[in-house]
Amino acid sequence: MSALGGLPQAKLLQWYDENQRPLPWRETSDPWAILLSEILLQQTQVSRGMVFWHRMVEAFPTIQSMADSPVDRVLKAWEGAGYYSRARRLHALSQLVMLPSSEGGFDGSLPSSYEALLSLPGIGPYTAAAVSSIAFSQPHACVDGNIRRVMARQHQLMEPSARDVQSWADQHLVHHRSGDWNQALMELGATVCTPKKPQCHSCPIQTSCRGRDTPTAYPLPKKTKVREVTLWVCVEFDRLGNPIIQQRQQGGLFGGLWGPQLHEGERSDAGNNEVYAGTVAHKLSHRAMTVHVYVSTQISPDSGFNPADVAMSVLDQKIIETASMSRYDSAYTFQKS
Ligand code: ADE
Repeated sequence: MSALGGLPQAKLLQWYDENQRPLPWRETSDPWAILLSEILLQQTQVSRGMVFWHRMVEAFPTIQSMADSPVDRVLKAWEGAGYYSRARRLHALSQLVMLPSSEGGFDGSLPSSYEALLSLPGIGPYTAAAVSSIAFSQPHACVDGNIRRVMARQHQLMEPSARDVQSWADQHLVHHRSGDWNQALMELGATVCTPKKPQCHSCPIQTSCRGRDTPTAYPLPKKTKVREVTLWVCVEFDRLGNPIIQQRQQGGLFGGLWGPQLHEGERSDAGNNEVYAGTVAHKLSHRAMTVHVYVSTQISPDSGFNPADVAMSVLDQKIIETASMSRYDSAYTFQKS
């Protein structure tokens, strides 16, 4: 029989009260600001999320301000945060929430119930539980990667299923402090029960942890398949030095953002009136991209766009920068010669 006790919830909450990081979204009770943080923090580290959270809250302090704004402005504010569909869905959410209830909206207020939140664009079970608990004190338990790791270690499980983790989280939720409880578990996973170097000696829930002696064995790392993709692009510039770029189709990679046309595959050499400018490497969660960048030595008769005026992915920014730099290379001259 195990001598381990049950999960010491009061200890974890006390640890959270005393040790939580001073994150700005913890200092507000505004549901919109909290929603922005939870959407940004999916697939983004807290340190990076913070930069974008400040930017978004400043640009769109209310749901109404986002609903009134063109989606392109939202994408511009989101520029660099990645996973741009989150920004497009957030914009759709803001417009839906602003509609009168007679038209299926929420009269301008973010709903407080888990179910209503879940019905909104871009909100899945994690975000609905996080926002309903943190912003509205509703008793819903979140599950994210940090919580899964804490649970797997507590029970020495290699591959707990999503259903098992949710049911563990539901069972242990502290109903009268649901938002703090959810954040305490996430905080523990982010700062103490970390993937590689867990600090078990300072863990407030070590007394119930079966995995304490070999924490890094749990859970098994998730295999993410990363596809290697090779692309090429030829960038043209106009007379003012602005690149010729288009807005990408919604739905595809970097949908709604601007960039030069990308082509799949390798290319053996530069085409006519083109020079090789350099190669850009860029990693996304499931893709490792290598982009060979060429620049046209012709000045385009069309007008380009100033990258400062449109939303561009970090990959496209790197491509344009590589192409621009090579234009100053003295190894060739542009078409005017
Ligand atoms: N990750 C996502 N949401 C979080 C929160 N509210 N606190 C800490 N980490 C988080």
